[in-house]
Amino acid sequence: MRIAVGADHGGFALRETIIETISGLGHDILDVGAFVLDEKDDYPDYAFMVADAVAEGRADRGIMLCGSGVGAAIAANKVAGVRASVCHDTYSAQQGVEHDAMNVLCIGARVIGDDLAEELTRLFLSAEFSGDVRYARRLNKVNARDGSRD
Ligand code: RB5
Repeated sequence: MRIAVGADHGGFALRETIIETISGLGHDILDVGAFVLDEKDDYPDYAFMVADAVAEGRADRGIMLCGSGVGAAIAANKVAGVRASVCHDTYSAQQGVEHDAMNVLCIGARVIGDDLAEELTRLFLSAEFSGDVRYARRLNKVNARDGSRD
């Protein structure tokens, strides 16, 4: 898959680790920055670049890193077709894809450590939407809200 990765200053410390993890799994990376640490940068700028890449099909999934993951998820979910969530536990990182077709994972680098962030990344990228009738029905309802398709 092609994975869009973004980070503001709050997520910057985790950036290289996550990029290496994604590459190590054999995926291609669309790196939207930040390329240097800038304490004054704003998470929506990176979250929108990640979300737009996913919504426009330039990336299959996205991973956004910020301080808490919260702001990134809020911003990314403004983009039609994006289903973003903060996940700081392994169950949600996998189930969020299998049941809910989450396509952008948001991680707070100030909340969890590198090892867990790597594990979440692995689970998020290896999971697939199950396609089960009830999950598909729910996904259709979510998509209908913004007119998007999966
Ligand atoms: C940046 O200081 C911080 O507010 C941001 O990275 C993030 O936590 C937003 O959700």
